[in-house]
Amino acid sequence: MTFQPAPWPRKLRSQEWYGGTSRDAIYHRGWLKNQGYPDDLFDGRPVIGVLNTWSELTPCNGHLRELAEKVKAGIWEAGGFPVEVPVFSASENTFRPTAMMFRNLAAMSIEEQIRGQPIDGCVLMVGCDKTTPSLLMAAASCDLPSIVVTGGPMLNGWFQGERIGSGTHLWRFSEAVKAGEMSQETFLEAESAVTRSTGTCNTMGTASSMASMAEALGMALSGNAAIPAVDSRRRVMAQLSGRRIVQMVKDDLKPSDIMTRAAFENAVRVNGAIGGSTNAVVHLLAIAGRMEVDLTLDDWDRCGRDVPTIVNLQPSGEHLMEEFFYAGGLPVVLRTLGDAGLLHKQALTVSGGPIWDEVSGAQNWNEDVIRPVGRALTSQGGIAVVRGNLAPNGAVLKPSAASPALMKHRGRAVVFEDIDDYKARITDEALEVDETSILVLKNCGPKGYPGMAEVGNMGLPPKLLRRGITDMIRISDARMSGTAYGTVVLHTSPEAAAGGPLAVVRTGDMIELDVPARRLHLDVSDEELQARLDTWVPTHEAAQSGYAMLHQAHVEGADVGADLDFLKGCRGSPVARDSH
Ligand code: FES
Repeated sequence: MTFQPAPWPRKLRSQEWYGGTSRDAIYHRGWLKNQGYPDDLFDGRPVIGVLNTWSELTPCNGHLRELAEKVKAGIWEAGGFPVEVPVFSASENTFRPTAMMFRNLAAMSIEEQIRGQPIDGCVLMVGCDKTTPSLLMAAASCDLPSIVVTGGPMLNGWFQGERIGSGTHLWRFSEAVKAGEMSQETFLEAESAVTRSTGTCNTMGTASSMASMAEALGMALSGNAAIPAVDSRRRVMAQLSGRRIVQMVKDDLKPSDIMTRAAFENAVRVNGAIGGSTNAVVHLLAIAGRMEVDLTLDDWDRCGRDVPTIVNLQPSGEHLMEEFFYAGGLPVVLRTLGDAGLLHKQALTVSGGPIWDEVSGAQNWNEDVIRPVGRALTSQGGIAVVRGNLAPNGAVLKPSAASPALMKHRGRAVVFEDIDDYKARITDEALEVDETSILVLKNCGPKGYPGMAEVGNMGLPPKLLRRGITDMIRISDARMSGTAYGTVVLHTSPEAAAGGPLAVVRTGDMIELDVPARRLHLDVSDEELQARLDTWVPTHEAAQSGYAMLHQAHVEGADVGADLDFLKGCRGSPVARDSH
């Protein structure tokens, strides 16, 4: 894939605002000059929008305000004109009912912020889980030159001599308290030990997975994903990215040149190799939908099936993002995949050249953290897509985080109608459940929750935890945190609130999960299943106004990315007429 740079100089879209001597041009320039900009900045040089998801309520991105200064320094150095623009920041740890409900709202608002303003290129300053896909979705729909700068992961957590990971240990400690193995006081003491610095979750959770996806897609400079937030090299990366975006605008190197089908296939394989989050499935499908690349759920299974998980990071493995960076980071993973014939080496990146040029010389400095293929954590690390009468449009499972003994299992369903029902009954000592049962949770999908909450890795009944049971099969239309683990079938589609078969599962039904055969079967007859569906009535709460109503009316299934139906596609960046 050879890229031919556009001729330079040429007129850029920002000149539709700032060029010439018309009354409107004077109006646009004059108002911006109230911030002290000299005349020559309006001479036709690239205007770069530094789209910043900094927010004090998105603590994972709390340092992006300062990091933006480095990006802007790079833009100035390269002869561009940086303008920093605050954009919708959907924090994973703050937003209710779930940040996922606002991923599409963020993408929609940011798309319009780009298109409606005098911007020639974008730096996407991201970090926390939803911020990366929302900005990439917006950039894909606008198709102006864009580069991702990630905030980077926080430092390792340490508690009582043990390396502890964001999220992953929160779940572990919480289960240990329920099982009577840890005191509540110790749990509280651990709270501050988890978050030692600014930055995103330090496990291979969703934020680290999406940072890796951005790099694997070619939308960030090589090595961007793993540099810790507080490492000086993170600031250097920001400055270099600022320099690079100016040249990308001059060359007219756009997301549609970079995010091709080959790039998406690379990203899918990388997610398998890093033991990445199941959330990457729904986000990559959504980004591909914006880019008009025909990526499907089956591509995840097909491309990921033979990919070994070689990155030994929590929740699938032992280490954290700091060790991943010291071992060489994502370039080592890309090189390993390339050497194994599992990478489209010619896929273009923001560098303007093929990805292989960036990574072919990468060295692995710690083979316990990034394993050679022969010592992989698991040989089939990709996302498994299971189908059957319980999930006609598919459901996903992360084999590297699951128990091998449960990959083929038949069990009795214990059904919860929604998350409130689950919370009310899971601690009931009289609940008829044992370790062979299958927990089923409904009404937690994109429409049902609404927003598709990360509740799919529902905690086990305390009475089983006390007996030392650590895993059992759980099935839902929800997502799960990228920091979570277990034999958890997620994203079951169609979701219960849309009338999928999940809606009519009853306690006592038998369910068969056969991951090797990619099968998820509800053991009732076709006639019985149809009869139940014919009499089904929705039980989820329907929003009557506001964004929640828009979301419920238009959100698509998780199997196609859970975007709003009217937002799919690339609309480009035509300049609208002036209103003055
Ligand atoms: Fe923000 Fe994990 S909660 S990155």
